Amino acid sequence: MTDTERAAAVEQALGKLDLDTKARLLAGQDMWSLPPVPEIGLGSLVMSDGPIGVRGVRSTADDPSVALPSPTALAAAWDPGLARRAGRLLAQEARRKGVHVLLAPTVNLHRSPLGGRHFEAYSEDPYLTGEIGTGYVAGVQDGGVGTTVKHFVANDAETDRFTVDNVVGERALRELYLAPFEAIVKNARPWGVMAAYNGVNGSTMTEHRRLQNEVLRDEWGFDGFVVSDWTAARDTVAAVTGGLDVAMPGPRTVYGEALAQAVREGRVEESVVDDAVRRVLLLAGRAGLLEGVPAAVPAGALPAAVDGEALAREIARRSFVLLRNEPRDGRPVLPLDPAALRGVALVGAAARDARVLGGGSAHVFPAHVVSPLDGLRAALPAGTGLTYSVGADPSAELAVAEQGFTLRALFRDAGGRPLGETALPSGQAQWLGTDLPEGVSFAALHTVEVTGTFTPRESGAHHFGTRGLGGFRLVVADTVVFEGVQEMGQESDPFEAFFGAPLDRGTAELEAGVPVAVSLTCDVFKIEDMPIETVAFSLVHRGPRRDPDELIAEAVAAARDAEAAIVVVATTERVESEGFDRADLRLPGRQDDLVHAVAAANPRTVVVVNSGAPVELPWREEVAAVLLGWFPGQEAGAALADVLFGAEEPGGRLPTTWPVKLADAPVTRVEPREGVLTYEEGVHIGYRAWDRSDVAPAYAFGHGLGYTDWEYDGAGYEAAAGHDDADTLGVVTVRLRNAGARAGREVVQVYLAVPEDDGADRPRRVLAGFLSVELPAGGTTEVRVPLSRRAARTWDETAGAWRTPPGTYTAEIGRSLVDRRLTVPVPVPVSATG
Ligand code: BGC
Repeated sequence: MTDTERAAAVEQALGKLDLDTKARLLAGQDMWSLPPVPEIGLGSLVMSDGPIGVRGVRSTADDPSVALPSPTALAAAWDPGLARRAGRLLAQEARRKGVHVLLAPTVNLHRSPLGGRHFEAYSEDPYLTGEIGTGYVAGVQDGGVGTTVKHFVANDAETDRFTVDNVVGERALRELYLAPFEAIVKNARPWGVMAAYNGVNGSTMTEHRRLQNEVLRDEWGFDGFVVSDWTAARDTVAAVTGGLDVAMPGPRTVYGEALAQAVREGRVEESVVDDAVRRVLLLAGRAGLLEGVPAAVPAGALPAAVDGEALAREIARRSFVLLRNEPRDGRPVLPLDPAALRGVALVGAAARDARVLGGGSAHVFPAHVVSPLDGLRAALPAGTGLTYSVGADPSAELAVAEQGFTLRALFRDAGGRPLGETALPSGQAQWLGTDLPEGVSFAALHTVEVTGTFTPRESGAHHFGTRGLGGFRLVVADTVVFEGVQEMGQESDPFEAFFGAPLDRGTAELEAGVPVAVSLTCDVFKIEDMPIETVAFSLVHRGPRRDPDELIAEAVAAARDAEAAIVVVATTERVESEGFDRADLRLPGRQDDLVHAVAAANPRTVVVVNSGAPVELPWREEVAAVLLGWFPGQEAGAALADVLFGAEEPGGRLPTTWPVKLADAPVTRVEPREGVLTYEEGVHIGYRAWDRSDVAPAYAFGHGLGYTDWEYDGAGYEAAAGHDDADTLGVVTVRLRNAGARAGREVVQVYLAVPEDDGADRPRRVLAGFLSVELPAGGTTEVRVPLSRRAARTWDETAGAWRTPPGTYTAEIGRSLVDRRLTVPVPVPVSATG
């Protein structure tokens, strides 16, 4: 079916709808879906997060999902083709779960390392973000599933995200924050965009007529639907006239009845509602939910099935960034040779309980997780000694009860009658909207009992506690540990109350390996003004506290006896997640002390960093190797073993600069003042700022080592022929040689440097093109890297248009922003079209 035919079918369907139905169709009927309209053959459209897996409509673990590495990790592979394959897998997952639109990708920028959702965005560079996002969206949509590119726009930090007004100059908006959205709209035609919570330059984004209607739709030609971020739509008239099509979640929204009423009272033109409904019908048609309109991807044209586990492992090892790999006994410490290794000391809490994904709405429930300990154990020959020690505990708090717990939840009404029950994979008891199990209604629900057993790993005083609101009774091994009510504080945000800090309620002396009964009964609080019916509380736990010095000493002793030490350091969910920003970039707990001590004990110390975003690595010059693992997804340990033992090369390059310390980073404030956060740095974020500063980062943008050596043997440049408004400025050709002893993959990076005499306040150089290429040992090739024309352009605020300052630019070709091997001149003529 052509676009015109599809538009005609949409028109026909629209003609059959009355005002009330149209208004209803623009509002969520529940947490994740729009209402069906059977009279016109319209099914219910279901949305789900996103971005590293498809959670489905239930925020519970009884319907597991493949969990890929975090988005920053995906970007670190610098390969839009790989992102496209990830997208195809996610479409497959979405179809399996009855999901039509994936609430992803997140293409906000890494403006500051403090951003709480840094792990969920791709890069500090808009071009890399746009390329990865394009691949991802194309992949998901190849599979006939829609995307909502989010969060439009400038949702680059979390503090006061519902209300903050981000003041961003037009040039920074165009050159940085809007640019990935623009590229993706142009190159992948997404079916949706999500409007952010925050405001930009005085208008909240759900009501931002200029950015949503004039820029996104009129200028860029976006033909999809705009959905609010969850609960972000606040004003019926301002939102619908500002370009917001769908208000989520439901059933309580500012659309539906309120919208029909606004039309009846003459506050909104019915034609505005019609436009929004057209876009929703078009989306439904594309997703195969509107009778008479063939789906964008018919069943017979779906891509071949993808093996999720294999892909999760492949993306993980391709995303790992080897920051440092120093020689020991004449050769780099990595890869370790498993056949020759006598003993390995594995250290770190996250080596056993890996943090494989980031928190918040990006959370999914994988069917299994391969920890570094599991992965290394499986990969090492039977004769190699592998010891494990905790070394340091990054978490000072109790965490959701998981390891060693077998739990169920039982639901009762006010009379104590059972309504239903379900298995719980962890102590997190959370049901939103329609998530409650079969037979359990929110209205009838009074009490939830979480019951089961706990088998401790260690003997000693175990701490138990609660998180969330309600009337609690906590019993461990027949002893009542706590009985009392947790109410919401006067001032607190209900979300914070439900998902906030865990509270330590008491201890029980337990013996390793001996199971005990545990139960947490909760008389559920029902809060009237919550937009969503919510049951959310948790049973939380922490093992016996050990003396931190003793833990370090134990790890040091193990490292001293081993041939190599591998230390996994990590952030926690209370450090990096959604809804808050970070206060600093330090590793929590005594982890830095641990690494200093292990490094002093073993010259072959390899540190694996398990964090979604930059952390300070004060010991980095003391250790033999540093490998960034990000949040590596469910196959974490398997991929880690692949890379540490050399079955595969770590393939990642930094998509964002890593500072030595927070104070050096270009943007260190993400807290609004009186509701306003000003992007004072203009276009100078990330490497654009580092490049003109006297301070060097710990590791530059684009940096990442592999296991072979590359030679850049020569380069040339051909200007693009034809109309000068095309996206490509020209093509750089590079002769490349794998000069090492093993096959490998290189990411050829091309930066465009502005002419020397360019007096304007422009970044010295920007990423203009890149290409990932594989070569056997000794292999040579000539790669052709198209350069983005946008790299030579700048937004002229006075003219309100793009301008290409003419002159002789330089293409700088190399392995990172600072490891530039070749240059070629790029003459840019005066352009007729800006
Ligand atoms: C997040 C979105 C997410 C939505 C639905 C919001 O809090 O900002 O990214 O898609 O929730 O879970």
